[in-house]
Amino acid sequence: MPKKIIIDTDPGIDDAMAILFALCSPEVEVIGLTTIFGNVYTDLATQNALRLLEFAGRPQIPVAHGAARPLQVAFDQPAAFVHGQNGLGEIVLPTPIANADPRAAAQFIVDMIMANPGEITLVPVGPLTNIALALALEPRIATHVAEVVVMGGAAAVNGNVNPAAEANIWHDPHAADRVFTTDWPITMIGLDVTEKTIMQADYLAGLRRSRTGAFIDDIARFYLEFHQKAHDIYAAYTHDPSAIAYLVDPTLFTLQRGPIRVLCEGIGLGQTLWDRSGRQWGRPNAWSGRRPVKVGIDVDSTRLLALYQQRILAAD
Ligand code: BDR
Ligand code: CA
Repeated sequence: MPKKIIIDTDPGIDDAMAILFALCSPEVEVIGLTTIFGNVYTDLATQNALRLLEFAGRPQIPVAHGAARPLQVAFDQPAAFVHGQNGLGEIVLPTPIANADPRAAAQFIVDMIMANPGEITLVPVGPLTNIALALALEPRIATHVAEVVVMGGAAAVNGNVNPAAEANIWHDPHAADRVFTTDWPITMIGLDVTEKTIMQADYLAGLRRSRTGAFIDDIARFYLEFHQKAHDIYAAYTHDPSAIAYLVDPTLFTLQRGPIRVLCEGIGLGQTLWDRSGRQWGRPNAWSGRRPVKVGIDVDSTRLLALYQQRILAAD
């Protein structure tokens, strides 16, 4: 039985790479996309989600429009320098024919989880605002969800917005802290693993043998330019597709458990602080009694890249 998943997303070049990967992987069934600000404003995220589903020939999959701003901090601005003004590396897909679901993303998430107890996996690959709003609307989703697999955070490595914070967590640290401290089965696929899997330019060009792969190579050009400027590599980190890879084949990853708190103020705003000690502390602290998060600390990148390539080449 495929895992039923909702991808909460801010497409976004690597979001598009993740969504297309999920759509051509039989281990998962995408039952909806919910949208969020981050790489782009939420309005554009919704349009891009619809566009990507139509590109993939799956327009019947619902898209629910998400929050326009974080819970407490102000939304900084879209990352046009990473993903292009249109979020898809300036590659233009046709205007979507379908409309978004009438429900807000948080309500859609609640409805889906409560109607299918124990069956739905949430895969947030953008800021965690919609997930926190869904928990506020209906706290029982915590006991009815199958799993939550977050792309975000940096447990034992530097962030990518600044030395402390990864982008998805930094955009809405209060939502992220709420999501990580909820008593539900949660896995963090953060920069510790996503920056270990690197798609080289020739690897991406090799995907061109399928229509889907050619599109991925097209949109990735802008992303490669960004990595060249920011990281001095003409290659791309594999952020959001890694969360899908975890669902398709969890054996790709090495995980370690420990509770996570998110810094919600100060120079480390958005830092994911992970207690991986496994010890009993002498005094109670902000991590005490919190459910451990499974954190990706290593990945078999060779196998992940082979899996991604195999699925994308077998797509249309
Ligand atoms: C995350 O931030 C966004 O730019 C990417 O889409 C990914 O979800 C990586 O830090
Ligand atoms: Ca993303």
